[in-house]
Amino acid sequence: MRFGVLGTGRVGQTLATKLVELGHEVMMGSRSRDNENAVAWAASAGDAGSNGTFADAAAFGEVLVNAVSGDGTLPALEAATADAIAGKVLIDVANPLDFSRGMPPSLTVSNEDSLAEQIQRAFPATKVVKTLNTVSAPVMVAPEIVPGEHVLFVSGDAADAKNIVVELLQSFGWPAGSIIDLGDITTARGPEMFLSLWVRLMLKQGTPIFNIGVQTG
Ligand SMILES: NC(=O)c1ccc[n+]([C@@H]2O[C@H](COP(=O)([O-])OP(=O)(O)OC[C@H]3O[C@@H](n4cnc5c(N)ncnc54)[C@H](OP(=O)(O)O)[C@@H]3O)[C@@H](O)[C@H]2O)c1
Repeated sequence: MRFGVLGTGRVGQTLATKLVELGHEVMMGSRSRDNENAVAWAASAGDAGSNGTFADAAAFGEVLVNAVSGDGTLPALEAATADAIAGKVLIDVANPLDFSRGMPPSLTVSNEDSLAEQIQRAFPATKVVKTLNTVSAPVMVAPEIVPGEHVLFVSGDAADAKNIVVELLQSFGWPAGSIIDLGDITTARGPEMFLSLWVRLMLKQGTPIFNIGVQTG
């Protein structure tokens, strides 16, 4: 399958590399065609990897990944263009974090709204699926590095899109039973607000390699 990965940071690089390892073709998108990270990644990825602008990557991908900073997300998707992302699954892994006042960051949207909902409202013809934002980049593609049973959340309005994403997550190594479909796109609020706790846990434990489990009684 062809993927457009929007974002050149740790997450974009990690997901793009895993997708190529799994046999997919990936174009990494950025604000500029000569972004150093993206050019270096494409050079290391072989024939299945390439890079371009956000618009190039959006046009290339059958499935898209939003791995852009929270504040850059809507501008990046506008640059990708509504037409190019219409009808496509957009896997949104971004967190609406504001680091302008240092650590810990605050959330730029919460409670009765979320970044995922802002994306879905701005691009109604795109099938937004929120997932993976509650774990660090290494855990996203190698859940086995965290011992024990732990979970991942999926939120989105389109059932067919969530099925595609759940299948992809399983190919990353997430057991079917560890993936919790929370419901429609409004359910992305919880996983995004979880970042307030995630950051505190990371600071307390001194590592981003952890995750949470859900036990029922
Ligand atoms: N790091 C993690 O382990 C982790 C875990 C879970 C979720 N996340 C979330 O995943 C996303 C990516 O995180 P990251 O650490 O890989 O990278 P990041 O530094 O948060 O984001 C890098 C990307 O954002 C783009 N960007 C920044 N400002 C922009 C703007 N004003 N307009 C358009 N694009 C803009 C950059 O574009 P250029 O390529 O043009 O520079 C770059 O591609 C974030 O939302 C983060 O919260 C991160």
